[in-house]
Amino acid sequence: MESLIACLPGDGIGPEVTAEAVAALTAAARIGGHRFEIRESLMGGAAIDACGSAFPPETKALCNEADGTLLGAVGGPKWSDPALTERPELGLLALRADLSVYANLRPVRPYAELAAASPIRPDLLVGVDMLVVRELTGGIYFGAKTRTEDEATDECRYTKTEIERILRMAGCFAGERRGRVTSVDKSNVLETSRLWRATAERIYPDEFPELEVEHLLVDAAAMHLLSRPADFDVIVTENMFGDILTDEASMLAGSLGMLPSASLGDGRNGLYEPIHGSAPDIAGKGIANPCGTILSAALLLRHSLGLSDEATAIENAVAATITAGYRTADIVSDDAAPVDTHTMGAQIVRRIEAA
Ligand code: IPM
Ligand code: MN
Repeated sequence: MESLIACLPGDGIGPEVTAEAVAALTAAARIGGHRFEIRESLMGGAAIDACGSAFPPETKALCNEADGTLLGAVGGPKWSDPALTERPELGLLALRADLSVYANLRPVRPYAELAAASPIRPDLLVGVDMLVVRELTGGIYFGAKTRTEDEATDECRYTKTEIERILRMAGCFAGERRGRVTSVDKSNVLETSRLWRATAERIYPDEFPELEVEHLLVDAAAMHLLSRPADFDVIVTENMFGDILTDEASMLAGSLGMLPSASLGDGRNGLYEPIHGSAPDIAGKGIANPCGTILSAALLLRHSLGLSDEATAIENAVAATITAGYRTADIVSDDAAPVDTHTMGAQIVRRIEAA
């Protein structure tokens, strides 16, 4: 059976990194004897330019029909004028909501060989292997907004049901890992966080009694993430805290460019994107790190297509390429010469094909 994969390159470095991920998917299809139809569509600023909408109806239809969607990145200075009503980022939020992918999984497992690329002391990086589960379709990113000339508001709203389902998803993943969950909130100040904490204090003992559960305030969590990163197994948190903490956690892996993500709902369809943005400063130069997007493609194979061997083949190929010494500019250390996006991608593809 042929699988349909939607590919939304988007803006900035998006097209450069998705091109390498598509090559990795094609190689994985070849070694596994599968047929993938990979169909591209417009998203974000590129879609605004082409048809006036950041999330056009054709893209919506394609992503709903597809078995999984791979996205590069959206946004850029061209579309950030505050007077504009159509914004690339809002298109992405609409896509996530449309697919009901409420759980954004962001694994952080630094490669030992990249320790020198991290600003964190190498001894602290030993044993770091965490999964951040970020709530993705609720909270302040989706609340009502108001704006006058001298006042602005953003509403943060969570329902018990939204909190329960993300906590359960995180609990299930923790059960398959080291059995630890850290729930992050700001319950000393925010009412949504008090509902979050109360829900976690009920769900985990009741439904996941085997898990070891810790509750942290987000400010403390930001510190503990750097002072004792290896202690964390699964971290579960609301939308904005998860967004911020994972950019911080990417420094453990050496670069924002290394981290993939999978956004899942209750079905199999999912959205897969690197955690980095469109990086307009380096767009078009061919120097972006394609690893985060290639690893996101691996997660697509595992979670949406059920092809875990092929997913592992991609992940092993990325690791072997790093071990062989290939580095894009963001992860290069001492005076080694960096390779460009396509060279990095091609080295990974070679190693997938050899699997
Ligand atoms: C991310 C990005 C997005 C987010 C932006 C582009 C809307 O920062 O995926 O982390 O905030 O979710
Ligand atoms: Mn982000």
